[in-house]
Amino acid sequence: MKSWDVIIVGGGAAGLMCAAEAGKRGRRVLLLDHGKRIGRKIIMSGGGRCNFTNYFIEPSAFLCANPHFVKSALARYTQWDFIALVEKHGIAYHEKTLGQLFCDDSAQNIVDMLVKECEDAGVTIRLRSHIESVEQQDEGFAVITNNEQYSCQSLVVASGGLSMPKIGASAFGYQVAEQFGLKVLPTRAGLVPFTLQPVDKATLESLAGVSLPVVAESEGGTRFAESLLFTHRGVSGPAVLQISSYWQAGEQVLFELLPEGRLTQGISEHPNQELKTWLGHQLPKRLVEALFTRDEWTQTKISNKPLKQYVPKEIAAIEKLLSAWPLKPGGTEGYRTAEVTLGGVDTNELSSKTMMAKKVPNLYFIGEVVDVTGWLGGYNFQWAWSAGWSAGQSV
Ligand code: FDA
Repeated sequence: MKSWDVIIVGGGAAGLMCAAEAGKRGRRVLLLDHGKRIGRKIIMSGGGRCNFTNYFIEPSAFLCANPHFVKSALARYTQWDFIALVEKHGIAYHEKTLGQLFCDDSAQNIVDMLVKECEDAGVTIRLRSHIESVEQQDEGFAVITNNEQYSCQSLVVASGGLSMPKIGASAFGYQVAEQFGLKVLPTRAGLVPFTLQPVDKATLESLAGVSLPVVAESEGGTRFAESLLFTHRGVSGPAVLQISSYWQAGEQVLFELLPEGRLTQGISEHPNQELKTWLGHQLPKRLVEALFTRDEWTQTKISNKPLKQYVPKEIAAIEKLLSAWPLKPGGTEGYRTAEVTLGGVDTNELSSKTMMAKKVPNLYFIGEVVDVTGWLGGYNFQWAWSAGWSAGQSV
């Protein structure tokens, strides 16, 4: 049985960062992944340019049953630390919007950077390693794979969540947590497009390709000002992906298509314009046509007429429809297209400073396998870097 100081399962963002940091401390590190390539999610992230962090990282941008948990790791290894690493490797990057940082060239730059850091730190990487079992032994662990048997002092689970099974996602991390008696919170797809209920398909399916800026609001009152995109399968775009993480089955989402007061302003500016004509200047015309055929509009029994003819009650009803347009999704596209997995290893089981399991010495969980999910925009990678770095100082 070959012996290592540290074995890390999962060669994604968190595992690579942890491996490099532990290696730098002189630990003999073995990184195992069942895939053919390292960092596959990084490569396909951010449309191939990897949105690797965000200027505005803050704990409130993370969903977690214990919102305080993320503070320590995010403060110990910040976005500025990761930006400094990117700059040290001469990788060109730019801010796209809302503080989101992307590579100018390719996401492969980030993978190459992490692999180089691992190489310089003496980390051994073994791909196509299928873990058959993990057992506690003496002061550490035995890890049996399809081709080797290893022992280690510290075991780090960095195997990610369930999203995108096609590129290697597995339930491995949750199974290990349960094997060692740690609580795993229910998982569900996050940052994921919504599908439509049959009743909405008739009016909205034809809008595929239409996109507009909106404010999406969950039933719990969380709001995101981003764009909404209608697709052949339902609705997507950053506004929908963001709000999907705050959505529970059966709930509705409100979309502010136009801010309250815009119609009142329109009435004073264009009193003789008909509502449909005026709306066609404010919103995509195909959307306006579709809105007029939907139940929530026809039920108001308000007709299309020059703006000056609307009475206050009608104006209030139209303003409400436009500023809080309700849509009850049929569901989500699920793990097949989700960017992240909500839920996972309960943070109450882990040290927020080191990520070590409180009741299983030398067993660590980092990255997406943990019940921490960030907003869209580089937050999830920053969590992976911060958690991976923190564990890397301790293993
Ligand atoms: P990650 O999933 O990256 O790595 C886990 C690794 O473990 C994989 O290499 C897998 O092969 C391996 N593994 C799994 N099971 C195993 C087993 N049983 N045995 C051995 N190995 C196993 N975030 C962001 O901040 N900015 C962005 O631009 C994007 N873009 C993006 C696009 C797409 C399409 C997706 C799906 C996701 C994103 N994300 C993102 C989210 C981001 O990719 C994600 O949060 C991190 O990759 C999580 O890092 P981890 O290291 O925890 O898991």
